[in-house]
Amino acid sequence: MICLGIEGSAHTIAAAVVSSKGTVLSDVRDMYKTVEGGIIPIEAAKHHRNVKDVVIKKALEESKEKKIDLVAYSRGPGLSPCLHVALEAAKGISEHLKVPLIGVNHAVAHLTSGLLFTNAKDPVYIYVSGANTQIIVLENKRYRILGETLDTGLGNALDKFGRGIGLGFPAGPKIEELSKLGKYYKLPYTVKGMDLVFSGIVTKAINDFKNKKVSKEDLCFSMQETLFSMLTEVSERALAHTKKDELLLIGGVAANKRLVEMLSIMCKERNARFFSVPLQYAGDQAVMIAWQGLLEYNKVRKHIDIYPYERLDQIDVEW
Ligand code: ATP
Ligand code: FE2
Repeated sequence: MICLGIEGSAHTIAAAVVSSKGTVLSDVRDMYKTVEGGIIPIEAAKHHRNVKDVVIKKALEESKEKKIDLVAYSRGPGLSPCLHVALEAAKGISEHLKVPLIGVNHAVAHLTSGLLFTNAKDPVYIYVSGANTQIIVLENKRYRILGETLDTGLGNALDKFGRGIGLGFPAGPKIEELSKLGKYYKLPYTVKGMDLVFSGIVTKAINDFKNKKVSKEDLCFSMQETLFSMLTEVSERALAHTKKDELLLIGGVAANKRLVEMLSIMCKERNARFFSVPLQYAGDQAVMIAWQGLLEYNKVRKHIDIYPYERLDQIDVEW
């Protein structure tokens, strides 16, 4: 089977064609970015509306597939105005091609495509993106969230900090670059059991920058060291509790080399295998949406709509 996937839940509008063997036949993306300031949902949706047709057309052409069997779209979680654009685009193209349409959960797609792109079988998932930070395992056909952020996602925390010191969106990659020139200075460290709290640290770091106490480079380095250590601590505890011996890092922040390094050292020390989704698939893309559509093709489908607040642990894993 061949599936066209459409992603548009946040900053990126994307289309991809994937076969049921897991072969990526095309992968086209267009990301909304800003020089300064964060993501504005209405603006991102406008961006998606402007480029969606070109993105979908390109994905279909590049795949060289004459017959598409299924269209899958990202139904949530995400920003409502953006989710709407992706849904309308998916509806339009599925009607045009006269093929079924299926909505999939964006977070689930990150997880299952993580298995497709790596050799992990039954890992503790560390899902760190802009909006999400969750430690997850699959148990009895349900994803269980063992720990999570109590305020913003780690990526959003980095982005908010970046905005506060004058970096544009997304700030994560810029922070990683600047951190290479920085040295450590102490920031608060807030782990609550298996959960994490980021916003107080972000506020403190921005204040310290504004009061000119600390350089951008030192702040970037220290933000990374602090936030990533917190995440590594709860990840280790999740491995210990579940007795699993695989860790899989997924989501946009998985692009960060220092985070990958910290988690892999921790895994090595406790004889667990560490996997990280390949860099090119860490962030939002439509390959994962198409793949999830193929996995769920024969299963009970949810009503075609957007689900901006759908949580991972509400979903029956029937595939
Ligand atoms: P979700 O809806 O799954 O939460 P998302 O829409 O937030 O996903 P992703 O593309 O998965 O998007 O992740 C984007 C985040 O990843 C942004 O916050 C960005 O700053 C962060 N990021 C990207 N590259 C890096 C990097 N090298 N280091 C740190 N953070 C990064
Ligand atoms: Fe995402």
